[in-house]
Amino acid sequence: MTGTDIAVFDLADPDTFRNGAPHEALAALRRTDPVLWQPMRGEQGFWAVLRHADVVEVARRHDVYSSSEGGVVIETLPPETLARMRTMLLAMDPPRHGHYRSPVSVHFRPRMIALLEQGVRDLCRAVMAEARERVDVEFVHEVVAPLPTQVIGELFGLPRSDWGYIQELAERITSAQDPDLAGPDAKDGTGGLEMACYAVEFAAERRRRGLDDDMTSVILSADFGGQPMSDADFGGFFVQLVTAGNDTTKSLLSSGLVTLLRHPGQLAELRADPTLMAGAVEEILRYDNPLHYFRRTALVDTELGGTHIAAGDKVAMYYTSANRDEDVYPDAQTFDIRRRPNPHVSFGMGAHFCLGAHLARLEARLFLHELLETFPGIELTDKPVRVRSNLVNSYKRIPVRLTA
Ligand code: HEM
Repeated sequence: MTGTDIAVFDLADPDTFRNGAPHEALAALRRTDPVLWQPMRGEQGFWAVLRHADVVEVARRHDVYSSSEGGVVIETLPPETLARMRTMLLAMDPPRHGHYRSPVSVHFRPRMIALLEQGVRDLCRAVMAEARERVDVEFVHEVVAPLPTQVIGELFGLPRSDWGYIQELAERITSAQDPDLAGPDAKDGTGGLEMACYAVEFAAERRRRGLDDDMTSVILSADFGGQPMSDADFGGFFVQLVTAGNDTTKSLLSSGLVTLLRHPGQLAELRADPTLMAGAVEEILRYDNPLHYFRRTALVDTELGGTHIAAGDKVAMYYTSANRDEDVYPDAQTFDIRRRPNPHVSFGMGAHFCLGAHLARLEARLFLHELLETFPGIELTDKPVRVRSNLVNSYKRIPVRLTA
């Protein structure tokens, strides 16, 4: 890769990812510039961290790399948007992060999530039964989206009549760079504000009616570092959990189908031996991870992979690149549902490791299983279209024919 190529390689530009991640260029850069400076138009640029070992180091060293200082996206946020982001677990630093994470994390442990299995399976079967009636479908919105929406709706005890609205808001928030999905207000981040306002009202209403045993009640009645959560803080918490619960899982299920259809031999193996499903889900997560990166801000001068990083620098961990690092994965560019071990970083690493990882895995396993069981024939009827984004790796349209 020449200097000129690197100069035009722009990870901040959503169009760089229009046809999928630039995996070949990333592979070359991992060898020549593993901690790559990326200028940005009209604002401070950032370091793109491309190697697996360096991504792990940034994720683990929260004493050096802060989630809260500048938030977790590469764009410099207006102060009020940054303040709102800091009410999310994702953008908290210790000790506050620990105070907020501990009371909720017990409810997302594997044993607790396993209790949801039958309910999630029933939801998957209902989704497939409806899809059977349609045959030609837009897979993302007509088949995939209802599942995470219902799972999160039930988990939080949201009124059924609001589920569609919440799903639409979650999509607007994560797809703010795609004019097709974002809506007119997207640029100033009002999708997040609108959802936070919904959550504040919902919390007040739940306190009036009395709490029970759903996630909303758990959060509203828990002790967060010696005090209860305010309704305003609940707003930020809710936005993150509900957006991640809806949209990131939707990305995983959608790219799961596309990836399997593009590897018909492995799809056939999976159909023949469903015990391969858990490994297949891990490989889908590695190969087509739903989030390209999350950012940190260096708190002190430091060094990463031989590169000097100054205090205040933006540092972005590129999961998309780390997941294909040849130093970690043999045949890194090859999709292989039997890959073992598979230490992908798609759910992050360290203190901020994804709270919903076990839930997302459960949904993916059951959804893909029921899909393959219900439809012996699945074919693309047109080219899948990706969401325009430098952050979310997702599809907005997958036209398919489902044959039962
Ligand atoms: C395939 C689906 C998902 C992917 C790829 C994903 C990815 C991630 C990643 C990479 C992080 C780390 C953030 C960081 O280090 O800055 C994270 C954190 C988080 N995720 Fe997920 N996520 C998924 C599903 C979910 C679901 C279903 C939920 C909740 C129901 C959820 C809730 C969260 C929360 C609350 C955090 C913040 C944890 C913390 O900061 O302590 N995620 N997720």
